[in-house]
Amino acid sequence: MPQKTRTTAIVTGAARGIGAAIAMALARQGHDLALVDLDESATGATVDAVRALGVRAIGIGADVADAGSVEAAINHVANTLGPPTILVNNAGILRDNLLFRMSEPDWDEVMAVHLRGAFLMTRAVQRYQVERRWGRIVNLSSTSALGNRGQGNYAAAKAGLQGFTKTLAIELGPFGVTANAIAPGFIATDMLRTTAQRVGMSFEEFLDAAATEIPARRTGTPDDVAAAAAFFTSDDAAFVNGQVLYVAGGPKG
Ligand code: NAI
Repeated sequence: MPQKTRTTAIVTGAARGIGAAIAMALARQGHDLALVDLDESATGATVDAVRALGVRAIGIGADVADAGSVEAAINHVANTLGPPTILVNNAGILRDNLLFRMSEPDWDEVMAVHLRGAFLMTRAVQRYQVERRWGRIVNLSSTSALGNRGQGNYAAAKAGLQGFTKTLAIELGPFGVTANAIAPGFIATDMLRTTAQRVGMSFEEFLDAAATEIPARRTGTPDDVAAAAAFFTSDDAAFVNGQVLYVAGGPKG
């Protein structure tokens, strides 16, 4: 079904990887796009690609974990593109380490970007959604929410995002707003290049090894995840609220 509601969407961490693919998918649905990332200049290529699809797009440099930076970013979006009523909390970082080696900054930085970031962004955007009586929130969780060696911080944050999502669904549901989470499995992006380095493998070897463990026998692409975001943000998904969709090529065997 064609998308009826055309609005302003914000995607965080949209300069590259999954965030960039989600921005493109939302632009194809006719939404104007605000692409938030740490460095505005890093969003340039994605902003151009989104504009080429015929919608308006702006890049914004902001740290989602910083309250002042988030307030300024959301005000800027509302003033230039109109009230944002779609929010995709996608910005993320890894600071992997086994527990006995995990430092306090490793823990705090991961919590700050994933959890505090999603909280600050959502608190700032919900006022426009509630006012419009329409909104879509999509949070990026992960299969790591179920536990993953070397990722105590990240697993806790990604599980936390599932609880946050369900609570948003309950609180904002009466105002026509839905909140859902996507939990991707292994998606080939720059984020995992650092993981490959850490375990001493080339990126290609790392992808091949991962694929043998996945029922679909391949690793995922950013577009695999973007398709789920396009569904959750659509008019058709109005009655789908508080769900976690695993996009992982199958469950773990
Ligand atoms: P990526 O590392 O390629 O992109 C993440 C983007 O977030 C980068 O452009 C980065 O600059 C931005 N970012 C980081 N901290 C930020 C901050 N404080 N404020 C604003 N922007 C910030 O990562 P990828 O793979 O595209 O991941 C996107 C999301 O999907 C993340 O939340 C990640 O945890 C999640 N995910 C990724 C999986 C994968 O296999 N790649 C699997 C499951 C979840």
